Amino acid sequence: MSKQCIGIDIGSSAIKLVQLKVGRRELTLQNFGIEPVPPQTIVEGAVMNHGALVDAIRNLSRRIRLKGKRVSIAVSGNAVILKRLTIPAMDGSALAEQMEWEVQQNIPFPRDEVVVDHAVLVGQTPQGQMEVLLVAAKRDVMQQYQAAVRDAGLNAVIVDAAALALQNAVEGGVGFVAGETVAIINVGASFSTMSIVADGKPQFNRDIGAGGNTYTEAIQRQLAVPIDGAEAYKVGGAIAAMGAAADVVPQEVHSILAQVSEQVAEEFQRSLDFYISDAVDARLSRIYLTGGSSLVPQLPKAIQDRSRIPVEIIDPFARVAVDSRRFDVDYLRANAPVAAIAFGLALRAQGDSP
Ligand SMILES: Nc1ncnc2c1ncn2[C@@H]1O[C@H](COP(=O)(O)OP(=O)(O)OP(=O)(O)O)[C@@H](O)[C@H]1O
Ligand SMILES: [Mg+2]
Repeated sequence: MSKQCIGIDIGSSAIKLVQLKVGRRELTLQNFGIEPVPPQTIVEGAVMNHGALVDAIRNLSRRIRLKGKRVSIAVSGNAVILKRLTIPAMDGSALAEQMEWEVQQNIPFPRDEVVVDHAVLVGQTPQGQMEVLLVAAKRDVMQQYQAAVRDAGLNAVIVDAAALALQNAVEGGVGFVAGETVAIINVGASFSTMSIVADGKPQFNRDIGAGGNTYTEAIQRQLAVPIDGAEAYKVGGAIAAMGAAADVVPQEVHSILAQVSEQVAEEFQRSLDFYISDAVDARLSRIYLTGGSSLVPQLPKAIQDRSRIPVEIIDPFARVAVDSRRFDVDYLRANAPVAAIAFGLALRAQGDSP
């Protein structure tokens, strides 16, 4: 039996679910769905309302008639730390011991409060060193998410770091080009995740406290409307700007979306500059955008104008076989960038290494 996992990305504004059949040559979509998460259910990455989260997961899995129970989920934000380390080449118990020491040195939480794992990025450099990615996740946050999944009748057998799932999504969906360094930015609701990947290997990860809520709060403030009205204006304004019919939104919404996109692009640029100032060969070939707020139409151009690096919103499902009799292909295409992390999680199988 396949040990392929169902990818579930639990965000503060929505749950994204992707189930794939991973064949030798192709990926086939088995299931897909997005479910809104009520406000205040997840705050700063912590589950504040267990019952509401369980209901949302359960509603989603019922609505899309989910088959299977084995799930991979992600933790992100303050709950996870990724650290790239260069150490003398070693393996076996020496490496395990070294990693314990590195945890003490690099992870600012008590040892018993974190779950740690590592992945070897480069086994042996010409200088006799090795490069390792150390991953540490807060145990209590992991358990909150696992408990919600369990109470919704599923079993979270893999807990990944969102940044790594995002990299897997790009690798599996569009692929990395040898020798290229790219930035991937997932623009969510409460925050955004930036990952810089060189030659398919993670270099740098950082969370940035700007995302969809930055837009919604600006509309709320400047137009003096309630938060749900501001959200509707934002998405309506975004859809109208793409040329589709949308409910009438005040003209100001467009200028707020443009103005906040400048701010968000500036935040991203600060992190790009931080990476560039530190890296040996920092030439970025492109910036890939994913996440719900990558759909704000003014954002990609704002980032491109500021960084002078080509920006592309990616569709991780571009090479996935999709049965158009079963799935609403337009809906899937429109929301593919939103489901990037879930897609990366759906590429995981129980027992594989990250
Ligand atoms: N068509 C659209 N136009 C503009 N914004 C959109 C659109 N669709 C979704 N969004 C915004 O994207 C955000 C949701 O994206 P996503 O699902 O990636 O976030 P999340 O994972 O729930 O949040 P986080 O990861 O920050 O906890 C919301 O702010 C939502 O308003
Ligand atoms: Mg998210």
